[in-house]
Amino acid sequence: MDGSKMSAAVLYFLLASPLLLAAGSPVHESSNGTVPLVLWHGMGDSCCNPLSMGAIKKMIEEEIPGIYVLSLMIGKNVIEDTENGFFMDVNEQVSMVCSQLAQDPKLKGGYNAMGFSQGAQFLRAVAQRCPSPPMKTLISVGGQHQGVYGLPKCPGESSHICDMIRKALNNGAYTDMVQKHLVQAQYWHDPFNDDLYKKHSLFLADINQERVVNETYKKNLQLLDKFVMVRFLQDTVVDPVVTEWFGFLKTGQAKETETLQDSVLYKEDRLGLAAMDKAGKLVFLASEGDHLQFSREWFNSNLLPYLR
Ligand SMILES: *[C@@H]1O[C@H](CO)[C@@H](O)[C@H](O)[C@H]1NC(C)=O
Ligand SMILES: *[C@@H]1O[C@H](CO)[C@@H](O)[C@H](O)[C@H]1NC(C)=O
Repeated sequence: MDGSKMSAAVLYFLLASPLLLAAGSPVHESSNGTVPLVLWHGMGDSCCNPLSMGAIKKMIEEEIPGIYVLSLMIGKNVIEDTENGFFMDVNEQVSMVCSQLAQDPKLKGGYNAMGFSQGAQFLRAVAQRCPSPPMKTLISVGGQHQGVYGLPKCPGESSHICDMIRKALNNGAYTDMVQKHLVQAQYWHDPFNDDLYKKHSLFLADINQERVVNETYKKNLQLLDKFVMVRFLQDTVVDPVVTEWFGFLKTGQAKETETLQDSVLYKEDRLGLAAMDKAGKLVFLASEGDHLQFSREWFNSNLLPYLR
């Protein structure tokens, strides 16, 4: 798998910005009054792809001089990192990240987090499970907080992998074997098989409190200052798109959707999201464009303020 090719399309708009091609300012590893930032990349991507996460990291370092940006690598190298985004047990990924963050002296005072696509729900799991060091603001860029039911398209050039994944999901997303080894199955949410989802989803049903209400999750998530969710208005990768704002399909069918505010999760406030909403901690943003495509101008005026 060639990580550098896979997401060439992903950040097309960013790369089109001439500013980005200008010589970068020097990177200062120590945080001087700036809040460190942790990035978690999406499916088919890696920590350090110069065309995606690498470009984002550099752009943020230019905008906020002195900031410490950690772009997570899941595995020993970029190839492993890319493959783990498809095949490594998400719960294991989250605990690996938790210990990496806990061991990083630069994050001791807390950090902001920005997750791209599936990286967004994975970082939310980090917030819920690992309150130390403290995550301050979580920005979800095209995340799938209620999972997906469909995988219409893979970003970049990983479409052959998506075909394979689609087959596996159709043949039994909730079997232990598929759950353990296929990342996308771990946030597969089948509205026609709600019981199976609740019982057998190893990752998403757990962090979304579908089986039991884990008071620790609820308490930890509410420690966030802000939880910002970005939805892409012309998204062709994520189905249904409302999952990017924590909405989903109504149970038992696959046409009608419901908002977060209409969901049982919110009405029973199983995760503390209703409380956060009332406290003004939930921010819903929309961006024109397909999955993960935004301009530098949009980023600067909409997301940068949360990182300063
Ligand atoms: C952090 O350090 C850099 C480089 O020395 C400087 O340009 C920047 O203004 C500093 N930021 C803050 C918030 O003090
Ligand atoms: C709740 O979450 C915490 C933190 O991950 C975990 O240690 C604990 O076992 C969970 N409790 C239940 C009932 O799942």
